[in-house]
Amino acid sequence: MRRSMEMLEISEAHPDAPLIQRAAACLRRGGLVAFPTETVYGLGAHALDPRAVARVFAAKGRPLTDPLIVHVARVEDVRPLVRALPASAERLAARFWPGPLTLVLPRSSRVPDLVTAGLETVAVRVPAHPVARALLQAADLPVAAPSANLFSRPSPTRAAHVRDDLGDRVDLILDGGPTDVGVESTVVDLSGAAPVVLRPGAIAIETLRDVVPDVREHVPAAVRADQAHASPGLLATHYAPRAPLTIYAGPIPAALDRLLADAREAGARGQRVGILAAADDVPRIQRADLSSSRLFVLGPRSDDATIASRLYAGLRALDADADVILSLAFDGSGGLWPALRDRLRRASARVVTV
Ligand code: TXA
Ligand code: MG
Repeated sequence: MRRSMEMLEISEAHPDAPLIQRAAACLRRGGLVAFPTETVYGLGAHALDPRAVARVFAAKGRPLTDPLIVHVARVEDVRPLVRALPASAERLAARFWPGPLTLVLPRSSRVPDLVTAGLETVAVRVPAHPVARALLQAADLPVAAPSANLFSRPSPTRAAHVRDDLGDRVDLILDGGPTDVGVESTVVDLSGAAPVVLRPGAIAIETLRDVVPDVREHVPAAVRADQAHASPGLLATHYAPRAPLTIYAGPIPAALDRLLADAREAGARGQRVGILAAADDVPRIQRADLSSSRLFVLGPRSDDATIASRLYAGLRALDADADVILSLAFDGSGGLWPALRDRLRRASARVVTV
């Protein structure tokens, strides 16, 4: 019989070597280890062991049509997994690895079909988090690791999020504290004629352009949940809290007035209301004097890095004790804004444009 899950603290600056060895041994045996990366926590498994990979899909309740990212310690470790490393990949790797960039490349036959959902490409990344790096080096394996959340729930940015979602379905959780970036890696497809961003993420597209000037944004086509997608980040509902999230878009004072009016109405119906807010809006919200509402402050409205680092924790905190969640749209150009817009929209049940 399988032993139950263990969650153990590990220092980000100086990962404890015996604990890393234990986690690495667990991966080699086909176990599941959740570990921090600079973006979100990953749920790791031996990428070349189809039984271990199957456990990842089962633990998350993830459809087999949704391919996984393979994490490795060094650029050299990518070579056996791909048919070729194009010059653009070498340039991107030299500039952004280790770091929050995922490259989609034509795969070699060593990569199990289960990892790639039968696609002819494989997604690879070299993470920067010291715990992830130490684990990958010690395991000396490619590690398939999706975000360590239940399928379609917000990604975990703290070890407790992993425990809440997965509990005993995972063997070991390495608790390295809150993750730094808070949104997932940028996924760039290099398997076609020109590089395409399949998922906006931690590295801004304008930063990628320094290295690959011809990189394009993906234009989403309609996707069906029963197919292997170009990138299942494209599923309409993803990252969603259980309590329905309504986003209020439009000029801020008017959108905030509408949000507060709806909050008051929901409260009057007996619903517990959660409000996701920018620090700038707190005085106005407090003046509205809403009883039975809970506020989660993401950060200053112009601060994309702080908002990104707190977004998933905010959705989860409000989800725990609200029936409905209301938020203004968060917006800006460049930086993390495209990723934030994308995640908030996917988490939402409804957008109200004022
Ligand atoms: O920051 C991250 O990328 C985190 C950490 C743990 O590394 N991982 C993560 O994995 O977000 P996951 O499984 O939640 O998201 C993987 C994304 C999905 O949108 C998936 O469709 C895409 O990568 N992907 C994986 N393999 C692909 C492939 N062969 N072609 C296109 N997209 C692929
Ligand atoms: Mg995910």
